[in-house]
Amino acid sequence: MTPGGILVVDDDESVRETISRILQSKGFETSTANGPREGLAVAERIKPDLVLTDIKMPEMDGVEFARAIKQGHPDTPVIMMTAHACVETAIQSLKLGVDDYIQKPINWNQAVASIQSALDKRFLTLQNRKYVAELERQLVGCDRHDQAQFLKTVRGLFDAEEHARGAMLDTVESLAMAIGAKNATAKDHSKRVGAYVAKMAEALSFSEEEVRKLQLAGLLHDIGTIGIPDGILRKPVGQMTFDELAAYQEHPVTSFRILQPIREFQPILGAVRHHHERFDGAGYPDGLSGGRIPMGARMIAVADVFTGLNVDDIYGDSVNEEFAVERLMAERGTCLDPKMVDAFIEIFQGVAV
Ligand SMILES: [Fe+2]
Repeated sequence: MTPGGILVVDDDESVRETISRILQSKGFETSTANGPREGLAVAERIKPDLVLTDIKMPEMDGVEFARAIKQGHPDTPVIMMTAHACVETAIQSLKLGVDDYIQKPINWNQAVASIQSALDKRFLTLQNRKYVAELERQLVGCDRHDQAQFLKTVRGLFDAEEHARGAMLDTVESLAMAIGAKNATAKDHSKRVGAYVAKMAEALSFSEEEVRKLQLAGLLHDIGTIGIPDGILRKPVGQMTFDELAAYQEHPVTSFRILQPIREFQPILGAVRHHHERFDGAGYPDGLSGGRIPMGARMIAVADVFTGLNVDDIYGDSVNEEFAVERLMAERGTCLDPKMVDAFIEIFQGVAV
């Protein structure tokens, strides 16, 4: 018996061997058990990826068996096989935590789709758990008072059922919401930076894929501020103490560390890490200058200044757009990339997001 794979449980030997053979012919690894008792023992040994079980068996009915499996292996999906007459029971069983049911005689196209979808969901759940664990590990180093709230939010969002494979934007939304859970202004700011950066990238004829990535970078560039106490975040940078400023300036690297474990975020890590670099090299965290700063970071820097001035309550009353453009011009070539400032002003004058 190989570890993982699908465990087929049925008291009728010919049925279970046939199902097992068909599943193998479709590329799945399988193990078999002749009933619930043996099923539980085999599951303990091989830790199956999925259990496919008959609903009516002598020792224990399928629903009871499913419950026992879930107790020992909460992430293992259980799919019931049922005769037509048992559909009512099968529907009932879904309410009791069974993941899906298949009617006998089995339509193999439907069965494989159901199995595949349950396996995908399991894979995603495990991946998300790994990710949250990684976040937890990263944040332990931050030693901030609101880690617990942040992790609770993220964990809750990652447990959401509707989170589907490939739904990267859901993940991003979740993370953006985690920022929002702490600070609504910060979430709004990040959304607007994302939108501005996407418009800039479109205007600069970047590919659709690039535009999407840059929007992600804009949305998530400040995720690292999650670990900074509100009292510091609310202060204008100029009024922070030496220690407060040091804590605040860690956020691009914290953002980088939070996103680093996820494969899909690799292309935006540079833009996120370096969004507080200055064009003249006097920024942080790495003191990069000019063209050495990733282009996405230079774009975020411009959108950041514009958006911050436009809505940020740090500066008291809303500052009008004209003043924001003036400020961009003042920082053109020192803090900000002149080319990006020119592109931004040309594209955005009079356009609000
Ligand atoms: Fe930032």
